[in-house]
Amino acid sequence: MTQTTEAVDNGIKENDTIIKIAGMHKWYGDFHVLQDVNLDVARGERIVICGPSGSGKSTLIRCINRLEEHQRGKIIVDGTELTNDLKNIEKIRTEVGMVFQHFNLFPHLTILENLTLGPIWVRKTPKREAEETAMAFLEKVHIAEQAQKYPGQLSGGQQQRVAIARSLCMKPNVLLFDEPTSALDPEMVKEVLDVMISLAREGMTMLVVTHEMGFAKSVAHRVLFMDYGRIVEENTPEEFFENPQHDRTKLFLSQILH
Ligand SMILES: Nc1ncnc2c1ncn2[C@@H]1O[C@H](COP(=O)(O)OP(=O)(O)OP(=O)(O)O)[C@@H](O)[C@H]1O
Ligand SMILES: [Mg+2]
Repeated sequence: MTQTTEAVDNGIKENDTIIKIAGMHKWYGDFHVLQDVNLDVARGERIVICGPSGSGKSTLIRCINRLEEHQRGKIIVDGTELTNDLKNIEKIRTEVGMVFQHFNLFPHLTILENLTLGPIWVRKTPKREAEETAMAFLEKVHIAEQAQKYPGQLSGGQQQRVAIARSLCMKPNVLLFDEPTSALDPEMVKEVLDVMISLAREGMTMLVVTHEMGFAKSVAHRVLFMDYGRIVEENTPEEFFENPQHDRTKLFLSQILH
């Protein structure tokens, strides 16, 4: 477990719900993978999602930008409901960035090209402006000197910081992270968490699937625990770790916090 040092203050805009999930269900064929999920996320809120393997964490956050489709209930992002309407899906995808465990950079494009692809083709940003923005975000994640390299020439931690910069280039209102540090060698975890902490400090709304409990303690406003496709417990990090309510949560914590 990686310890993060500084706590981040509360930047939540309480009455401004940016994501609303209500009575949401999803099936893969006959398999009921998400069951009656209800979640309101306020603008500026940072939520850590944890739970055992297969509990539906990735599926839940992938539903929020329609990488997966839900079958029942509602998902509303910044006032736009996710339906089959392609306009709505496109709008939500421009607002919601995603960072994956395995970076998902294009190997045949340079770092700079990876960062400008979306802005140029999706946002129709002029190339020069896209490159200036990309360089600014590469500086932010402390990696500007790597701009002309290819992903395969970078370490895992560097590639993940590039992936975060790539998301930022699309100017998202929300960032979703799916185990962003779990594919990294231990010595690279901190450099990625530090970038995430600095985003938190700037007020980014973040939903982070992670088992980095040090990160959860210092950055999250709320921790959700999922099991068998349901959110079975949610609380402030203090309460969640000091006073877990459900037996499944206690068992899970005893397995990861030893
Ligand atoms: N495309 C798919 N088709 C069918 N079943 C799937 C598919 N993707 C995931 N599942 C199943 O759905 C359940 C939830 O998967 P999901 O990937 O959301 O879990 P997770 O909590 O992210 O697990 P992990 O911690 O291992 O990443 C698992 O039982 C998984 O096998
Ligand atoms: Mg997963």
